[in-house]
Amino acid sequence: MTKKKLIAGNWKMNGSLAANESLVKALLQDVGTPDCEVAVCVPAPYLAQMQALLAGSPIALGAQDLSAQQQGAFTGEQSATMLKDFGVRYAIVGHSERRQYHGETDEAVAAKAAAALANGITPIVCVGETLAQRESAHTEEVVKRQLAAVIHVNGHCISEIVVAYEPVWAIGTGKTATPEQAQSVHALLRAQLHHAANEHAAGIHILYGGSMNAANAAELLAQPDIDGGLIGGASLKAPDFLQIIAAAR
Ligand code: PGA
Repeated sequence: MTKKKLIAGNWKMNGSLAANESLVKALLQDVGTPDCEVAVCVPAPYLAQMQALLAGSPIALGAQDLSAQQQGAFTGEQSATMLKDFGVRYAIVGHSERRQYHGETDEAVAAKAAAALANGITPIVCVGETLAQRESAHTEEVVKRQLAAVIHVNGHCISEIVVAYEPVWAIGTGKTATPEQAQSVHALLRAQLHHAANEHAAGIHILYGGSMNAANAAELLAQPDIDGGLIGGASLKAPDFLQIIAAAR
């Protein structure tokens, strides 16, 4: 059985009530019955708005982060159960922007993935190397270390996660990894997942993220171990996001 691809938009800190509504209405008008799974990961203040707008549609709701804690004195944080209240299916964890600007460690990311899994939310676990790490031939070591921390804590249910390979140098830069560069890292990650999950590894979605757009999506998505995309900038433009969805079959 071949699994459907997953196309997830990451809106980052963009949007407004009015802009979200027109974006989602444009998506829903033309998305039809997609051949892939689709999600949008929206800023937390808009979860209620998006839950209402996406109800009954083929587009699932996602968050961009969550707390590893269940509840209590954690000012500014959102728990997995709070996200569940708004029908959240996916939560991005360990995005490079969170690792870079909020000092999230591999262990913190693993704990967030665990909190999501414990509450029936699929974590989209981001891994990826910086330009300096790639240029010094450390890509493999870095992505394996990042994923290993998540496997270490969540090994028993590792087949429930989604992985997103997002080379930091490709995020928001317009510099996409070549299909070959991306595929070679995806194959490494698949092998690492295979070690932890045996035959279930084939069913785990490994997304590519980093300047994926309407023009380059088809070629990236044609690679054997690229099971979808995590889309930043291009997910904010309905025609572009729809073209990427159409390319994922
Ligand atoms: P980008 O962002 O598509 O704008 O490069 C991807 C991401 O950061 O998830």
